[in-house]
Amino acid sequence: MKLEPASHLSQRGSHAANYGDFIMTYFKEALKNPYHPKLNPKGIINMGTAINRLMETELAARITQGDALAYTPAHQHYYELSGTAQLRQALAGFFTRHFCPGRNVSPDNLVVMNGVGACLDSLGHALCDPGDVLLTPTPVYGRIFTDFCDRSLVCVEPIDTSQETNVDGMTFDLRPEDVEERIVQLTSEGKRVRGLVLLHPHNPLGTSYSPELLRKIFAVCARHQMHVIVDEIYALSVFDTSAPHQSVLSLDDLPDPEKTHVLWGLTKDFALAGFRVGVIHTQSKELLQCLRAVSTYQCTPHLIQHAAATLLNDIEWCDNFYLPTNQRRMQEAYTKALKRLEGMGVKVRRSQAGFFVWANLQSFLCPCTEEEELKLFEELFESGLFLVPGSKLYCVNPGWFRFIFTIAPEDLDEALNKVELVLCRRRTPRKHRP
Ligand SMILES: Cc1ncc(COP(=O)(O)O)c(C=O)c1O
Repeated sequence: MKLEPASHLSQRGSHAANYGDFIMTYFKEALKNPYHPKLNPKGIINMGTAINRLMETELAARITQGDALAYTPAHQHYYELSGTAQLRQALAGFFTRHFCPGRNVSPDNLVVMNGVGACLDSLGHALCDPGDVLLTPTPVYGRIFTDFCDRSLVCVEPIDTSQETNVDGMTFDLRPEDVEERIVQLTSEGKRVRGLVLLHPHNPLGTSYSPELLRKIFAVCARHQMHVIVDEIYALSVFDTSAPHQSVLSLDDLPDPEKTHVLWGLTKDFALAGFRVGVIHTQSKELLQCLRAVSTYQCTPHLIQHAAATLLNDIEWCDNFYLPTNQRRMQEAYTKALKRLEGMGVKVRRSQAGFFVWANLQSFLCPCTEEEELKLFEELFESGLFLVPGSKLYCVNPGWFRFIFTIAPEDLDEALNKVELVLCRRRTPRKHRP
């Protein structure tokens, strides 16, 4: 959006208004022209936006059962804006069941907001002053940069991980010494490094950090008096049961518990992005006080809080039906996408969680540059497929793409057919192309 003249906004407002968000631009295009096998076969299949449609029907059936959206006059009035006691209790019970078996999570340590993005924004506001720095390993979900910058003017600096880090060339490993090195470097440039943001499981890599690695990284942060913000929005979207995700909430030997903050929400694990439910767990009383105050500006509606609590409290539906069925369907869809892509000669980094296949298409780029990566992106888009290219996720190696495999199952084959067609064309020398 171009504003004329831009100067009637603050610098901050103008920056947000004019920020060219590549992913959002194509997302909107895809939204205007959605693929349908019969009604719009030339439309766009969206494998770029991280949503999960594998349990859509079952979720709708449970939510409309009656108890979840039971409206009463109480829903017309003010309520505990930072999370109703009912929802915080349900969340605490849910965390105790799924995130840290054996230890109780207290509802008093939770603040609810309208989405995990809002939680990140509020933590930027509460923990940093304008110009302060937060670190995050890249490649990464791009909004990590804007969520902290848009309103709080916090500068998120990357810790680049790359495919060269290890011998197999596929790792993108984060090493504690890289974290330390980046802190020292930025501090020597006069910057105030306030914290580290980790996505655990990671978007787009789809893997969780091991408890051993987390302890080492957290120790580095504690030595530098830094906060650690751990976004666990995909904690239960783990489709490989041989590699369970271990939540930071379950670690009882954190070097600095008061500065370790864990985030979750209903957006991904319950595929309820439209509900706008995010939650922050922190042991810092001062931070809780601040977050409760600012949550007034970004609270989840009362009725939605009730619906969320109803789902989380329904152990039979939630624990015995929804989560295991979702996990099984995710595993099937991931395996299908993985096998088809590998059959086309695409290299895929193995993952265990999240909605993504992180795939290396470098052998289809000649030369292997960011420019060529974007050309391939355009070819895929023109063929009716929206994927996110790695450069838009701050990947330092050109040629990586993020495929969302949790799209409507009936669209997955068609999407992979489109990929195959485009890649085959690239494999065929230009003079032989039809
Ligand atoms: C790692 C991560 N955090 C936060 C979000 C945003 O979540 P919400 O829609 O709850 O604000 C996303 C969405 O893609 C995400 O991938």
